[in-house]
Amino acid sequence: MNLLVVGGGGREHAIIKKLKENKDVSCIYALPGNGGMEDDAVCVNISATDIAGITEFARTHEIDYAVVAPDDPLVLGCADELEKAGIPVFGPSKKAAIIEGSKIFSKDLMKKYGIPTAAYEVFDNVSEALAYVEQAPLPLVVKADGLALGKGVVIAFTKEEAADAVKSCMEDRKFGASGERIVIEEYLTGPEVSVLSFTDGHVVVPMVSSMDHKRALDNDEGLNTGGMGTVAPNPYYTKAIADECMETIFLPTMKAMNAEGRTFKGCLYFGLMLTEKGPKVIEYNCRFGDPETQVVLPLLKTDLLTVMQAVTNETLSDLTVEFMDKAAACVIMASDGYPASYEKGFEITIPEEAKPHTYVAGAVRKDGKLLTNGGRVLGVTAVEDDLPTALKEAYRLAASIHFDNAYYRHDIGKRALQALED
Ligand code: AMP
Ligand code: GLY
Repeated sequence: MNLLVVGGGGREHAIIKKLKENKDVSCIYALPGNGGMEDDAVCVNISATDIAGITEFARTHEIDYAVVAPDDPLVLGCADELEKAGIPVFGPSKKAAIIEGSKIFSKDLMKKYGIPTAAYEVFDNVSEALAYVEQAPLPLVVKADGLALGKGVVIAFTKEEAADAVKSCMEDRKFGASGERIVIEEYLTGPEVSVLSFTDGHVVVPMVSSMDHKRALDNDEGLNTGGMGTVAPNPYYTKAIADECMETIFLPTMKAMNAEGRTFKGCLYFGLMLTEKGPKVIEYNCRFGDPETQVVLPLLKTDLLTVMQAVTNETLSDLTVEFMDKAAACVIMASDGYPASYEKGFEITIPEEAKPHTYVAGAVRKDGKLLTNGGRVLGVTAVEDDLPTALKEAYRLAASIHFDNAYYRHDIGKRALQALED
């Protein structure tokens, strides 16, 4: 079979490595992929948002199955176009991807169907938003409505910070049209859990839970990033909480999308906060998380392509999706300075032993050399019987990989280990 994977980061590399485990897969094209995944896929320089280019490529390369991984092509309708071209695809339609594409849509959906989330107000007018900020209790969370590369959320602890966030979204258009409208919401506290799920609109099959580490620096300091490391499973996510989430969040969300005529088929990501008043939704994503995928998929026992095809064919309830009873840890190696400014173009060396564990996100091949080409350069994942061993192994492997100006956090999994001890 010929497969096509849209996207080019560490998440896509993890998806590709897992899909390759299926013996029927002969070739995987990555659009655009990156220089670090050339051992696993044929990278084709077509941008993930060039929907016409992707569809044309699929049509002319005998593609048997396509996976659209990133949020922007999904929100732009890439899955719809591939389907129209007769190519079976994993990834939600444009109508369903709005669950991530518009925070106002998702907040209104949760309100309408009684799905627990932070209280909120929506604004399309700067002065009304600023007047609200003046009298609302702190802290406040200010969110751009649309996609903003994971940077559209500001947690404001002072009125000034909140007003600045409102102005930079709505007046300065820091996120372009994504910030024309904003959500201002209540600040919640509690452990965060990421739960990725497979859903075909009939059933929801949650994957093993995970924990992201979003801040750039140790002890959760520094700027918010796309994610500096992950562990799975997340020790805060007990069986009782999982059952509660299925009842109050996962199934109600699937049913709500069906009722709205926006059946979601693909990977639905639930970003949850376990508050004192029970689990609440912080955000939905219409796709696999990055770097959650780099710990979740290595633990998947069932063949990934089979699961994805069952989602496409709406036969997911016929399948048992199994995960290993082990732990995984992923450490992201970034260019020092990320997520602000950083230098790139440094040679990356990855020992043979580490290659099967490495998911490359930001690299380019030039004159036979692999060079850094992004903020998050690569992730290294270890799967072991328990979390302490997985973390030790992931850090051992990370130390064996080299590029100038490499930076990584040294406390990935620390909170999870503490939770295991409690
Ligand atoms: P998001 O881009 O929606 O994932 O938000 C980024 C991060 O901001 C989340 O992972 C949370 O840590 C934090 N966050 C978002 N919304 C809230 C909220 N209502 N209360 C507290 N923290 C939040
Ligand atoms: N790691 C968070 C995300 O993929 O949105």
